[in-house]
Amino acid sequence: MPQPLVIGNWKMNGSLSLTSDILRAIESGIDDKIKCEVGVCVPYVYIAQAHSTIACDSRITVGAQTVSEYKSGAYTGEVSADMLAEINCHWVLVGHSERRVLFNEKDTALVLKVLAAQRAGLVPVYCVGETEADYKAGNTFQTIENQISALLDNKAVDLKQIVLAYEPVWAIGTGLTATPDEAQKVHDFIRQLIKKQNKEAAIKVRILYGGSVKPDSAESLFAQKDIDGGLIGGASLDVEAFLSICQKA
Ligand code: PGA
Repeated sequence: MPQPLVIGNWKMNGSLSLTSDILRAIESGIDDKIKCEVGVCVPYVYIAQAHSTIACDSRITVGAQTVSEYKSGAYTGEVSADMLAEINCHWVLVGHSERRVLFNEKDTALVLKVLAAQRAGLVPVYCVGETEADYKAGNTFQTIENQISALLDNKAVDLKQIVLAYEPVWAIGTGLTATPDEAQKVHDFIRQLIKKQNKEAAIKVRILYGGSVKPDSAESLFAQKDIDGGLIGGASLDVEAFLSICQKA
């Protein structure tokens, strides 16, 4: 059983003061009752500050929310994986549905981002999930298979150094969540797809659930066999709620 993992995704929220306030509060709230690994993906500009706020031996690891697929050069506005590694970034979200939908990021580029992240020593958190239309049309599994296949078809991807996140798009920020049973079925499906490529990786890989996870819903979701933790948006900015979710993992 891999160690459970809970990652907060702050999205485009925060400020200098909020970053230090929240991280100090989370750090002092992590006690023996919290057994999971804890990550926070903050906006780029707060990554260095996040590190200087937490202790060197902190149980919190810091991540970014996206990364460039390019190594360096004339890509105005982009941030490379090497740059993130240099400031001790640990995680990087890749293919969050807001990146896919609002910024038109496609599987081909997303797989290049995964490779760039892994080459720099970062751990990519590759996000997949179906839209409401796909869900209503019964196309959940097909959509997930298409998104995961892009990753599995590229043999350069190291499946042992990646985290997967299943986030139904219709559940993100809406207050709706997949039922534990629905989520478990998709997580199991993802693990089986990975297993076809690499049995060892399928056992090791952590598959997080995301989409309106709150303290109330966390326990039954995390109790599912193939749900190894959560990717938490809104509730990650509420210290008490985030710590309570971590405790349930
Ligand atoms: P949410 O966001 O918890 O606010 O639904 C999850 C995410 O977007 O990662």
